[in-house]
Amino acid sequence: MFVFTLCLFLWSWLSSIHGLEFRYHNSMEMEQYLKDINKTFPDITHLHSIGQSVEGRELWVLILGQHPREHRTGIPEFKYVGNMHGNEVVGRVLLLQLIDYLTSRYLRDPLVTRLLNSSRVHILPSMNPDGFESSARDCMYTVGRYNKNGVDLNRNFPDAFESNTDREREKEVRAVMDWLKTESFVLSANLHGGAVVASYPYDNSNGGGELQGGQSISPDDDVFIHLAKTYSYSHSEMHNSNSCSDSQDFTHGITNGYYWYPLPGGMQDYNYVWAQCLELTLEISCCKFPPEAQLPGLWEANKPALLAYMQQVHLGVKGVVTDSNGKPVQNAVVEVVGRRNLCPFRTDRNGEYYRLLLPGNYTITV
Ligand SMILES: *[C@@H]1O[C@H](CO)[C@@H](O)[C@H](O)[C@H]1NC(C)=O
Ligand SMILES: *[C@@H]1O[C@H](CO)[C@@H](O)[C@H](O)[C@H]1NC(C)=O
Ligand SMILES: *[C@@H]1O[C@H](CO)[C@@H](O)[C@H](O)[C@H]1NC(C)=O
Ligand SMILES: [Zn+2]
Repeated sequence: MFVFTLCLFLWSWLSSIHGLEFRYHNSMEMEQYLKDINKTFPDITHLHSIGQSVEGRELWVLILGQHPREHRTGIPEFKYVGNMHGNEVVGRVLLLQLIDYLTSRYLRDPLVTRLLNSSRVHILPSMNPDGFESSARDCMYTVGRYNKNGVDLNRNFPDAFESNTDREREKEVRAVMDWLKTESFVLSANLHGGAVVASYPYDNSNGGGELQGGQSISPDDDVFIHLAKTYSYSHSEMHNSNSCSDSQDFTHGITNGYYWYPLPGGMQDYNYVWAQCLELTLEISCCKFPPEAQLPGLWEANKPALLAYMQQVHLGVKGVVTDSNGKPVQNAVVEVVGRRNLCPFRTDRNGEYYRLLLPGNYTITV
């Protein structure tokens, strides 16, 4: 009996140091895991739902940071979104692993500690839980890609390049749009599968001045290229440009979204144009729904890239615009001369602005 108890104790101790199992957790298991994390790490995590899927599953977001419950001046907001296409499941797995990694290393690992003390990280592991539950475990079939209404969520956002943008919004898309209003996100990535490449805005064009050499170029193209290369060169293979046998070559493992293929109603353009949040679309596995045995390798390949990308939230300049009495001014236009954003960047309700920029000399008008 004693030996049995000891074995049980050793087993639970070992699994706690080995962390989260590398397998596919269904929506109920994922919810339980997130609730356990929220309970175990109350000082650095905060769990909330940003809405529900068509079938009524909660869209759980775990926030991590030194002050997880509220924004603090000078602390930029970062986010990762996984599993928007329900059958592209590696992002969902890796984001749960990332949560495990960050929570277990806080105050032990200097990089993780610095990251969570200086930024607030929001993780939505599954934007399309209904699609996930209906997915076939297959590398390339699209069963499960869409939400319960058969809609591709990455075509359902308002699009700055389309004249008719009043199509009906799906519940999952509406939840994300409302979420973007509650926080001033600075940097984000949206995780997909079926290729290995970091894709950056714009995804769409209406043939105006943005269209150059087959690419749809944004005013922050230099920053986007830097961000995409940060991911691809921190990844063990992505920068090698032809990581998947069946897909095209991507120089440096990055691509302009439109140049790869034009895409209306996508989430990354919406984040950038309307929420002043720079977002990449990260394609992180050749196979959309790989065998579980491949998950540890995919985590090792992406882990340094996921961490390096998060740190980019500190690129450039930030500050507070105040009036002559020192009171923060909301909605002040903060423009970097030479970068005419479709919607000018404005200070948020705390008077704050964050502008991701590469080293150089800039003139900023307020
Ligand atoms: C997270 O934990 C707090 C207490 O630490 C609790 O009040 C809250 O209900 C938990 N949230 C969820 C969604 O379980
Ligand atoms: C991070 O914040 C914690 C809690 O306030 C503090 O104990 C720790 O020293 C800080 N560490 C770093 C590296 O900033
Ligand atoms: C920025 O301007 C200063 C002063 O004109 C100059 O010395 C410096 O080399 C410039 N830096 C860059 C990166 O252009
Ligand atoms: Zn996708």
